[in-house]
Amino acid sequence: MKPIIAPSILSADFSNLAKDIEMINNSEADWFHVDVMDGVFVPNISFGFPVINAINKIAKKPLDVHLMIVDPDKYLSKFKEVGAHVLSVHYEACTHLHRTIQGIKGLEMLAGVAINPHTSVSLLENVIADIDVVLMMSVNPGFGGQKFIENTYAKIADLKELILQKNSKAKIEVDGGVDLNNAPKLLKEGADILVAGNTVFSSPDPTKTISLLKEIRG
Ligand code: DX5
Ligand code: ZN
Repeated sequence: MKPIIAPSILSADFSNLAKDIEMINNSEADWFHVDVMDGVFVPNISFGFPVINAINKIAKKPLDVHLMIVDPDKYLSKFKEVGAHVLSVHYEACTHLHRTIQGIKGLEMLAGVAINPHTSVSLLENVIADIDVVLMMSVNPGFGGQKFIENTYAKIADLKELILQKNSKAKIEVDGGVDLNNAPKLLKEGADILVAGNTVFSSPDPTKTISLLKEIRG
């Protein structure tokens, strides 16, 4: 199976976003990964609805929206309105996670749950059958360009086992520090979707880097 490649807009050139969106449109990438940070759940602020809406107007591929915000329930329908196809909330930010998942699905978006590096995969046991995506953080969320955390490999293997055990259709998405060197092992452990910010946008030829990621097999 070919991996789904989701370049992260956080590493794009914000003074010329249209150019980077066009590049992704014309590349082998599958999704746009869109990081929303509120300065409360994570120590950084990225962008909000007007920017996502603008991206959505020219993006020709689905928006994979990663919410790093507290109280996401307040904004689910707003994210649907600005074009989210996949909407992922953080396990650590949701007191009533099951309700939040139902809310996302009720709005006809794919439901994702993101887990921080310290969060055990076993905590997803009771929701794994209800979700479409697990967004496994391989860095602490908040910034692009951080170093990949090696413990992620073991967590992917655990998650794969849980998915099979529970007969879940959830896809495994890895986010943070993904590059051409660690991608083969991530896919081998069971990852289905690779997010890449720095690896794509800091490379001399981002289109080519996306193709190289797309060609990798586990
Ligand atoms: C981090 C974000 C990531 C980030 C990935 O909080 O969730 O999506 O943009 O960037 P890289 O690939 O540079 O680690
Ligand atoms: Zn992300």
